[in-house]
Amino acid sequence: MQTTANENGAGPRIRAAIDGLPPYSAGRSVRDAAGEGAVLELLGLAANEGPYGPFPSAAKAALEQVGKANLYPESGFRTLRGELARMLNVDVAEVAVGAGGIGLIHHLSVALLDEGTNIVVSTPTFHAYALDARKQGATTLSTPVREDGSYDLEAMLGLITEDTRIVYVCNPNNPTGGIVGREELLRFIDTVPEYVTIVVDEAYFEYAQSPEYTDTIAEPAFNRRNLVTLRTFSKAYGLAGLRVAYLVGSRELIAAVQKVESNYEVSNVAQAAALASLHEEAELTRRVGLNKDGRDALTTGLRELEFEPLESHGNFVYVKVGDAKAFTKALEGEGIIVRPGNAMGDPESVRITVGTPEQVKATIAAMGRVILSTAQHST
Ligand SMILES: Cc1ncc(COP(=O)(O)O)c(C=O)c1O
Repeated sequence: MQTTANENGAGPRIRAAIDGLPPYSAGRSVRDAAGEGAVLELLGLAANEGPYGPFPSAAKAALEQVGKANLYPESGFRTLRGELARMLNVDVAEVAVGAGGIGLIHHLSVALLDEGTNIVVSTPTFHAYALDARKQGATTLSTPVREDGSYDLEAMLGLITEDTRIVYVCNPNNPTGGIVGREELLRFIDTVPEYVTIVVDEAYFEYAQSPEYTDTIAEPAFNRRNLVTLRTFSKAYGLAGLRVAYLVGSRELIAAVQKVESNYEVSNVAQAAALASLHEEAELTRRVGLNKDGRDALTTGLRELEFEPLESHGNFVYVKVGDAKAFTKALEGEGIIVRPGNAMGDPESVRITVGTPEQVKATIAAMGRVILSTAQHST
C-alpha cells in the first residue's frame, strides 16, 4: 500500500490517498458567521436546509428520546427501516438507514471503491461524491451538466470504463436544480454495465413535482441489482441537524453498506424524529407547496433584476453572478449568506436556498441592493 512522504521518518503514516485532501467544506452558515463575531442578524441560505424547522410531532418524539439518551439506539435501525419498507412497499432487506446522505455516500464509497477505480458524474454537482472517491484512492470522471442544469447521462455513458464502480445521478441536481426524466433515466440504466452501481441521489425528491420526474423507488422498472436510491430527512422534513437518511435498492448493495457502517451511527433522537416525520403527509405537502411558491417568486424576482437563473426542481436556485465569491461577500454585507459555486467547480454562480416567503422577498431586495452598489462602484 502507498503511504505518504514520511514513510521513512517518524510519525504516523497517513494513507497517500488522503494526503492533501481538503476536509469537507459545507456552505458557510449563520453559526460560522456568529463565531467570527458577526453583529448583523444573518439569514443562512447556503445549505439548502428546510426553513420551517422539524415537524412538531418529530420535535416531540425527539425530545422524548433525549430523556433516554443513556441507552444505545436501536441496533440495526429496525423500527425505522421497517416503517420505511412498509410505506415504500419494499422489503426491509432493501432499506439501509445512515447518518445523513453524506454518511451513506461515504459507506457506498467504502463498499465499492478501491485505488485505481473511478466514479462518473456530471458537474457541477454535490461535491461529497468526488471527495469520498478520493478518500478511497479512486478518481472522478466528469462531464458538464446540460444547459438546463441536468445530468448529461449520454455523455456520462461515454466516460464509463472497466474501472468504473459508481455512476451518480443527482436528480434534481445540486446545485443547478435540473432533472433527468423517466425515459432517459431508464435508457441510461439499461445501458450502464451491471458491474457499475447506479446511485440515484434524490435528496430533493419531495420538491420535484414535474410530470417528467420519476419515483425510482415506487416504479418496478428501476428495480435493478446495481441500483440504489438515496433520500434524506435533512431537506423537506427539516431534520438536517439530526443526521438521518436512507437508501433503498438491491439486497446485495444494501447488505454491503450495512457491513461497512458503524453500529449506532444514527442516534435514538434522530431515529424517533424521522419515524414521526413519516406520518406528517399533510404538513409535508403544505411545505412543498410553500417551497414551490418561494422558488417561483425567487426565480421571477431574479429575472426582474436581469439575472438568468436556471429553472430549479429543488429548494434552491442557481444563478450566474460573475465573481461568485465577491458577490457572496457583498450579499453577506446585506445580511444574507448564499453558497458560491467555487467548491463545486463553478466560480461564476451562486446557489440560493429558497426560504420562507418573507426570506425570499428579503433575498431579492438584498440582491437588488448589491447590484446597485456594484453598478455605482463601477461608474
Ligand atoms: C444532492 C445531495 N445529496 C445528499 C445530501 C446530503 O444530505 P444529508 O447528509 O444532510 O442527508 C445533500 C445535502 O445537501 C445533497 O445536496
